[in-house]
Amino acid sequence: MLYTMKHLLETANKENFAIPAPNIQNELTARAVIEAAEKCNSPLIIDIAFPIHPDIVFLGGLTRRLAEESSVPIAINLDHGGSRWADLKSCLREVMPCFRAGFTSIMVDRSSLPYDENVRQVKLLTEVAHAAGVSVEAELGHVGDGEKYDNKSDMVLTDPHEAKRFIQETGIDCLAVSVGTAHGQYKGKPHLDFERLEKIKTVTDNFPLVLHGGSGTGKENLQKASRMGINKVNVGTDLFKASLHAVRTADLDSGKIYDIWQVINDSWRDELIQWIELLGAAGKAQEYLPSETVQKRKINGGI
Ligand code: 13P
Repeated sequence: MLYTMKHLLETANKENFAIPAPNIQNELTARAVIEAAEKCNSPLIIDIAFPIHPDIVFLGGLTRRLAEESSVPIAINLDHGGSRWADLKSCLREVMPCFRAGFTSIMVDRSSLPYDENVRQVKLLTEVAHAAGVSVEAELGHVGDGEKYDNKSDMVLTDPHEAKRFIQETGIDCLAVSVGTAHGQYKGKPHLDFERLEKIKTVTDNFPLVLHGGSGTGKENLQKASRMGINKVNVGTDLFKASLHAVRTADLDSGKIYDIWQVINDSWRDELIQWIELLGAAGKAQEYLPSETVQKRKINGGI
């Protein structure tokens, strides 16, 4: 079942859990993460980033079709849209193909720009996306790179009062916050600023919040964050690592190279199942039923 991210996060926010958002790369990994969500009867947000596939319209369209056919609620989100460029036109060049592919949500990442420019661009992009019925995630502060974590050189923590202003000024549907996580492998030990997270949630009147850089953050930290108002957790690196380990240790017959796809599928699925359970999303698919989407599908004779 296909949903917007706004719809998925509203329920997660009310019910106090987080939905995992795995980074997929192709049809195989799209199928693996959907299989995990179906096994756990959990909602799912599939994150797709631009540089990982030569044709995002193709991959997005294919993922949308799989989501439509799935028994669990799924949103398809552009991850870090436009982050490689500072200008609005380049960002639109990434966003527009996603509308064409049928994404139900986009993240427009202008978090490297000064506050006023971040607001100006995100506001405009949000108006465009909402007109197309697509939800919007944006980032304030900046979640840095795990490689630089030990000196915190590229991390800017989110200011709670600025967060409140940012949400009001842009009209976004959820906010990615920087509270001590980092993308990729951490150099050093992750330290989450839970006081800051609590303040952001309170000051923004319980606005849906997103945590990037889930991998390596630690079970306790993630569980606590998801109980304190984080409603979406992005995960990439831990899935890649689990899969690499499974391939390296698999007993593969060189004459049957195709067996490798099953090893990759199973390792992605099993790793994600652990995340779904950890974040409290297992069994939550039913919270979305009966939904408007299901009603519509029934009226149209879809199911
Ligand atoms: P990790 O690879 O650290 O899990 O981060 C993923 C992410 O935040 C994608 O936006």
